Amino acid sequence: MTSFPKTFLWGTATAAHQVEGNNFNADFWVMETTPGTIFAEPSGDACDHYHRYAEDIRLLSELGFNAYRFSIEWARVEPEDGLFSAATIAHYRRMLACCHEHGITPMVTLHHFTSPRWTMRLGGWESAEIVARFARYAERIARDLGDLIPYYCTINEANLPSLLAVMLSAPQRKRDDAPVGADMSAMRNPRETPWWQECARRMGIAPERLNPFLFSNTPSARAIVCRAHEAAREVIKRVRPEARVGITLALVDVQSRGGDQVAQRIWHDILYSFAPHLKGDDFLGVQNYSRMLVGPDGPLPPELELTQMGYEFYPEALAGVLRETSKLGLPLIVTENGVATDDDARRIEFIDRALAGVQACLRDGIDVRGYTYWSAFDNFEWMLGYKMHFGLIAVDRATQQRTVKPSARHLGEIARRARGLALHL
Ligand code: BGC
Repeated sequence: MTSFPKTFLWGTATAAHQVEGNNFNADFWVMETTPGTIFAEPSGDACDHYHRYAEDIRLLSELGFNAYRFSIEWARVEPEDGLFSAATIAHYRRMLACCHEHGITPMVTLHHFTSPRWTMRLGGWESAEIVARFARYAERIARDLGDLIPYYCTINEANLPSLLAVMLSAPQRKRDDAPVGADMSAMRNPRETPWWQECARRMGIAPERLNPFLFSNTPSARAIVCRAHEAAREVIKRVRPEARVGITLALVDVQSRGGDQVAQRIWHDILYSFAPHLKGDDFLGVQNYSRMLVGPDGPLPPELELTQMGYEFYPEALAGVLRETSKLGLPLIVTENGVATDDDARRIEFIDRALAGVQACLRDGIDVRGYTYWSAFDNFEWMLGYKMHFGLIAVDRATQQRTVKPSARHLGEIARRARGLALHL
């Protein structure tokens, strides 16, 4: 068995809006709470991680992890255009310091889907004005907190709108017990609903200005996202030359069943078209959950057992995606990989098979530097609410009590062994 490098980052991942709770200055909060919403439920208190981060980080460290990927919430740090909250920045400083005190390397995402409401007044991710605003926020974080941040992911899944467009075109196989929306049909034409109009009205803007990140999939929005990444990287590197900066991409393992041209087009749309904008990055964050089968006419229906998300249970997809992304020549970090299931034994199997793939890649000389499982906690799965259970740790949302699942101990022990630490077993 190839051993993992001693420096390998072993961790879990979260995003502010999905775990912190009460992120009411974000665009998503309005979308979740406006009548007619396509969200299964509002994020509400989430996992109250904003207040419980210290016990959560201590728990992750005790489990054996040495890395934690989380996001800093722009909507909290800059509640109005140009108005920065020193108190919020101090909060994130305490959180970063807490990671370091527990031997955890923080990996900070600057934008994980949510944006401050005020950015929608500019036109959101369809407005070129957001580029300078995002860079200004990145600069503030680098200046005020950069001494504690070794890794930055500028924009989470910069390509997700492109991938979603492909996924929405794929035939779905809906699980019988799938929650409302798991077939993603609600994502198809949200702009044409009265709900969208009402969201815009509540934000005091014309509906055309409402361009949240996840719902902006025009070529212009894609170009703006890429420019925002480049501008943020430039400013972070200027302020903190030692920082390692990258982007993360949502990637399915595209497998051709006689549809090579279609597969190539999809790889282009979700990966290679981003490559020119990643020159100068220090790593690429690889995020993978499953594969996609394609034939000559496009995506094919899934064949294997489905997860809660309706994805094929296929952990080998991670290795496929690592092999494809390695062609870009950047060091790779698995910034998200995981499975939504209530059967924790299946999660353990998923992790073991995914990590076997990472080991095979390492054996073949692919430069993989870390693995952060999505997610530390069962949390707010966007449109699908709290019914999806990706977590290594369960959260009782009434009491906020954390319950460590066997999979958390399993992955923690793998990390401890790889790091040469004493095992808990
Ligand atoms: C996102 C997470 C999400 C996860 C599971 C990724 O697309 O970055 O926010 O919860 O996948 O669906």
